Parts: sequence; C-alpha cells; structure tokens
Amino acid sequence: MSQSTPEEFIERTQKLLKQQEELFGPFSVDISWKDEKKSHTENSVEEITEPTESHVAEVSEAELLEKCTTLDELRKLCEQAEVLKTDLANTNLVFGVGNPEADLMIVGEAPGENEDLQGEPFVGKAGQLLDKIMEAINFRRSDIYIANILKHRPPGNRDPKPEERTRSLPYLLKQIELVNPKIILCVGRISATTLLGEDRSLKSMRQKVHDFHGRELMATYHPAALLRNEQWKRPTWEDVQMLRARYDELGGKP
Ligand code: URA
Ligand code: URA
Repeated sequence: MSQSTPEEFIERTQKLLKQQEELFGPFSVDISWKDEKKSHTENSVEEITEPTESHVAEVSEAELLEKCTTLDELRKLCEQAEVLKTDLANTNLVFGVGNPEADLMIVGEAPGENEDLQGEPFVGKAGQLLDKIMEAINFRRSDIYIANILKHRPPGNRDPKPEERTRSLPYLLKQIELVNPKIILCVGRISATTLLGEDRSLKSMRQKVHDFHGRELMATYHPAALLRNEQWKRPTWEDVQMLRARYDELGGKP
C-alpha cells in the first residue's frame, strides 16, 4: 500500500473527527482550520482576524503531526503532548512497541498499571494472553506493532472518555500511517468503535473485514475480557484464524 500524502491524512482525520462529533457531540478540536488556512494564503495579512488561542494550539498540533516522518519524531511529539494525558497525574507515555514496519498492527484501549510503569503496551496479564493468542497464529511479539487508543493510563483503569479518545486519535492515525500495516486488529469494543467511528457491539463487528481508510481492519474481544469470560475464547480463536488467513492473502511478512 502506498504512503498517503499529508493532505489525505488530514482529510481522513477531519472525516473521522466529524464522525466522532456526530457520535459523541461537540468537542474542542477545531476541524475547520484547513479552510481558514487556505484563506490565510489568499487574503492579505491585514484582513485576517486574530485566531483564538485554542485555535492556534490546534492548528500547530495538526501541523506538527503533519511534519512527523518517523516513529521517533512522533514519539517525541507525544512526549510533549499535554492533550494525550488523562486526569491521572504523573503517568508515563505508552507510545507503542514492535516492528516499525509490521504488516499487522494491534490496537488496544489504554495502558493499565503495568503498562504505565514500564512504558510499554500490553505487558500485564492481558498482554501475556495477547502474546499467547498471537503465538497460536504464528506471530512473535517482535513481528507485529502494538499500540493503544490512549497513550496514557486513565485513573482506576476506567474506560477512556470520548473526548480523550478524540484528542488521542490524530496521534494514533499518524502512527498507523507511519507503520503502514496491511491490516489492523482492534482488540475490544472501545478500540474498534473509536477507529470505525460507529457505536456498535463487538459482536456485530467481529468476523468481518472492515475498510479503514483504504486499509483492512478486523475486530475481536479484548484479552482482558477473555480472562473474565471463558465463553469468548472460542470466538476469539475463530477471529484470529480469519485474521491470519487474510494476512497471508494480503502477502503479509513473514
Ligand atoms: N489493555 C489495553 O487495552 N492496552 C494495554 O496496553 C494493556 C491492557
Ligand atoms: N464485549 C465487548 O463489547 N468488548 C469486549 O472486548 C468484550 C466484550
């Protein structure tokens, strides 16, 4: 798959943010900045009214993201991004881990306590189960790339709030663009509904290949959910078998 242009990325982000707004209601991200930017170049400087402070902040965030060309650059940007933080103080950034050129990218929900301490996604009990599930379909952790919707731990492991997901999403979209996977596996309903921009049950999203801005996306149960609900292990097994088959069809390496 070819790398998308910055314009395509911004368009995708804007579309997704609009979907999110329809779903969750208004939020603080200004999605009209691109048009305004156009008018900046068309009009003389004197004619332009002063943008509000929040407007300036959002414009520069989008521009900074647009300029990132490597995962290292994006990580540095994330380290400085206050918008990625939750209301839990002093958390560490949990950026992502794995093969930067992976053809399979796994997207979870948010870091838990162990992930926060180690700065790495999926290292606790759920992570160990995720590793086992991946091993069962012949992936090592080092073959794939793993990230979360949120890059900081929410207090008490509560569900990420819609506005937290919305604020983090542009960073994750850039991360997906830079890894450039052939297929994305969302684990859990929060991950899948956030990326697909539709509030649906996990059951209705699994066992399907979804289009995600020209990439393929599949969804299955969250490994933490499997630890509590044995009955979801079998459907998860079916989902990851389907994932592996699709991955091979797409020519994923190895
Ligand atoms: N659960 C997640 O969704 N992500 C992690 O990194 C760990 C647990
Ligand atoms: N139900 C969901 O919607 N998601 C899970 O991950 C588990 C159960």
